[in-house]
Amino acid sequence: MNKEVDIEVKIRRIGDELFPAIREVLPAFDRKRWTGRIMNWSMKQEEFKVRLFRFIDVLPSLRSDDQVARLLQEYFPGEADVPKVISGGIGFLSRMGIAPAVAGLVIRKSIESMARQFIAGKDVNDVKNALNALRKDGSGFSIDLLGEAVVSDKEALEYTGRYLELLDFIHEGLPNEAGPDVSFKVSSLYSQLDPRDWDGSLARTKENLRPILRKAKALGISVTFDMEQYYYKDLTIAIFKSILEEEEFRELPTACIALQAYLKDTEKDISALTGWARERSKKIAIRLVKGAYWDYEIVVNRQKGWPVPVFLSKEETDLNFERLTLLLFEHRDAVRPAIATHNLRSISHAIAAADMLNIPKQDFEFQMLYGMADPIRKALRERGFDMRTYTPVGELIPGMAYLVRRLLENTSNESFLRKSFSEKTSFDELIRAPRVHQNVSEEEMPDGAFRNESPGDFSISLNRRKMADALRTIKKNGNREYPLLIGEREVGTDRKISSYNPASPSDVVGTVSSAGIPEADAAIHEARKEAASWRMIDPEMRAGYLFKAAEAMRKQRFELAALEVVEVGKTWTDADGDVCEAIDYLEYYGREMKRLAMPRVLREYQGENNEYHYQPKGIGVVIAPWNFPLSIATGMASAAIVAGNCVLFKPSGLSPVLGYKLVDTFRSVGLPAGVLQFLPGPGSEVGEYLVSHPAVDFIAFTGSKDVGLRIVQRAGETKPGQRNVKKVIAEMGGKNAVIVDETADLDEAVKGILESAFGYQGQKCSACSRVIVIGDIFDEFCNRLVDAADSLQIGPPEDPANFLGPVIDDAALKKIKAYIEIGKSEGKAILEKKVSSAGYFVGPAIFTDAPPQSRIATEEIFGPVLTIMRARNLDEAIGMANESFYALTGGLYSRSPAAVQKVKEEFHVGNLYINRKITGALVGRQPFGGFGMSGVGSKSGGPDYLLQFMNPVSISENTLRRGFAPFQKD
Ligand code: FDA
Repeated sequence: MNKEVDIEVKIRRIGDELFPAIREVLPAFDRKRWTGRIMNWSMKQEEFKVRLFRFIDVLPSLRSDDQVARLLQEYFPGEADVPKVISGGIGFLSRMGIAPAVAGLVIRKSIESMARQFIAGKDVNDVKNALNALRKDGSGFSIDLLGEAVVSDKEALEYTGRYLELLDFIHEGLPNEAGPDVSFKVSSLYSQLDPRDWDGSLARTKENLRPILRKAKALGISVTFDMEQYYYKDLTIAIFKSILEEEEFRELPTACIALQAYLKDTEKDISALTGWARERSKKIAIRLVKGAYWDYEIVVNRQKGWPVPVFLSKEETDLNFERLTLLLFEHRDAVRPAIATHNLRSISHAIAAADMLNIPKQDFEFQMLYGMADPIRKALRERGFDMRTYTPVGELIPGMAYLVRRLLENTSNESFLRKSFSEKTSFDELIRAPRVHQNVSEEEMPDGAFRNESPGDFSISLNRRKMADALRTIKKNGNREYPLLIGEREVGTDRKISSYNPASPSDVVGTVSSAGIPEADAAIHEARKEAASWRMIDPEMRAGYLFKAAEAMRKQRFELAALEVVEVGKTWTDADGDVCEAIDYLEYYGREMKRLAMPRVLREYQGENNEYHYQPKGIGVVIAPWNFPLSIATGMASAAIVAGNCVLFKPSGLSPVLGYKLVDTFRSVGLPAGVLQFLPGPGSEVGEYLVSHPAVDFIAFTGSKDVGLRIVQRAGETKPGQRNVKKVIAEMGGKNAVIVDETADLDEAVKGILESAFGYQGQKCSACSRVIVIGDIFDEFCNRLVDAADSLQIGPPEDPANFLGPVIDDAALKKIKAYIEIGKSEGKAILEKKVSSAGYFVGPAIFTDAPPQSRIATEEIFGPVLTIMRARNLDEAIGMANESFYALTGGLYSRSPAAVQKVKEEFHVGNLYINRKITGALVGRQPFGGFGMSGVGSKSGGPDYLLQFMNPVSISENTLRRGFAPFQKD
């Protein structure tokens, strides 16, 4: 018999022996129980499942029974929609109109009993019985403390403290032969964990890890590093290795790390880890799992345009699990394999493989999750296999994410447990070898369709290196001179603009010539010369210049991002995001122009030809801000250019080098010189002159409200010789609010608001500067947000550890500090983080108790200053949010379907975001722009944007000649 046939025969025989175990009814699927009925119904009704799991997700955070009853109605509206199958639980209560207090209590108890099947207890004392039961049948265990997402240093420290208590409890309460182990997640040990800051994350995580490992070692308890999302995988492995290389931890009882078979990388990781273990002559353990974040990996990586790291078919994962089981067995001199699965086939394969390789039972172990497959666990114990049960412990709120994951897993179509315990799939089907029919490949976008540029993935070491190299090169090259670009000429002027690094104002990033009136006149002359021919160029060809410029930017992506870091103080991620957005505008507007250029034939009548098309407006001025120095400038300029106009571009005096790079990029791809000219200079002089010039047909501006309104006014004054009424497209400020209600996921709300309010030091027009909190979560929300904001690192953005960099200049710094003083007089400062540094740094400040009409709550500050207000209910919160004259962005954190609906209808903002941060709009996906005092014009990155740079023309031709008209098709 050949080897493959041989092992298959063995697998069948072993599976046959274990098969009776899976014919038992698992409590989770037992239809006599409420939980079993719910699970079964969920498996039949996808839409119900979504609502149910969302309801289960929000339930523990609801504080009153009234809220439970209200949410119940919202998630399961109307009698007909609530299936009879769950009567006795949700359906019964909602139908009977039972008093909220009773309904709330019963619902809570029901969900608690469901959670109890997968979560062993609320705290360590609570799990004694569960652990004793496991020990009785000889099972070892690994306890995992369920925790909320750790958003601050304080929470990370508390989490570490809970693990230290857990180790004491295990030591005192349980004998050592129980093979005790604890499992933890590295993301819970450091709130700012991010592979972008590789060294910092490694060092800070290890600080909290050391006391845990020290105690574990002293008490003879082994430890396991859980594996989380792919983004953290390499960093988790690095932390694991790095801490075990410390002399003190060389001799730990056992150190184990989980690796996921659904990842294409894992084979390589196992080989590297086993090689490393062999080198240090100390065995480690590897827990082989399939992976619990499959949906997340698919969704998030696709959204970012990153390669999807997981296999796309379950059978590929199963096959890889078998391959990796063999690999672990081969390397058992360096690794103790822990085969973690509930799948009959995967288990039988492992046993058969061990048998064929003559591996004794005690050289490896099986692991399973608490409450998932007890009959299989028992069957394996009876056959003498080592067994460990992963036993989660925790309160219901932090446990909910875990519970929902387990429920989803159990009810997913692909789940082995569903197939075996619920659907009673045949033995032949369950035991057959995984078959990969064909490699399931990624869905391809149609050729040429627009897709957003993928953000830089700084979890990849090559990208981190390229960024660090680019920063070094920029520093080395030092201060360079940049001329004006007028027609074909490079023009130097006596007046210069020095661009400084705001993190270190003595460092000059570049010196740029400053234009005055004569240069502006010269540029207008060039633009007039060019305009007549540029407007005649085929739109397809004009779009071609944008695509080439996008390609050129892609090639110098790290250099451009590094320049943003030093010229305007953006962090790596924000700088990279700005470059990506610039590329997006080029790609998107190029395609948009091609779409709009297609001849549109309007309603046809015989004898009459009706056409509709667009003509460029002529000459435009683009005045760009410093806060998105490449993307906004690129967006406005490229839209105007591709529409057939000539552009006089005035960058901000605070980011002139990046402005130069934009024009230089276009010139490097052959754009005719008069189409885009570079005219940095004082706004009050050259800006004002250009805006008022009679030859100018339109102005595209992004910046402050005051300047925007002045431009609107100046553009409205008609000069002699002016042939057009000037069009103004102006994007101005915001005083953006986020509403957080009692049903919000506070983990998400804190993280999202932190980023919205303090990302790029609050210097985004979309930034959140007001939070309106409803109900009695106010204190908890404020405390968590303050701790989280206090944990953010501030410093030069060249160092990827820093979340906040400097503000743009001294004037901004002074203005922000003045507002902080105003805030102290109008309300209460609950955080004012001080920073001492030579650069323009100011720490985050958070205020409460300021009246809604106060200056701090109504005026745009453009800095890391946040005001938190209270509202009694959603109506009041929406009223407060809409109070502002601005209407740019807004947000809501809520898990109430009714609240979401109401906010969609009544919150008046240009861009509304629900349960996510309110910054970071993507071209084509979240077209951006507001109304009210936030701007005039249609949204950038949206389908209407280019229309603003063109005049629509309708042509009607009479084709009837002497009674004869050419035949036309209907
Ligand atoms: P089953 O055979 O039903 O496999 C389900 C798995 O297949 C899914 O979880 C997924 O990985 C994969 N899958 C499903 N659909 C797929 C598709 N369309 N394409 C490709 N693959 C698909 N997980 C984790 O990420 N980190 C960890 O640290 C741990 N720790 C852990 C400890 C212990 C003791 C156990 C038993 C499990 C874990 N897990 C985990 C969870 C584990 O990754 C896995 O989700 C469950 O064990 C379910 O896998 P089974 O083999 O039991 O079931």
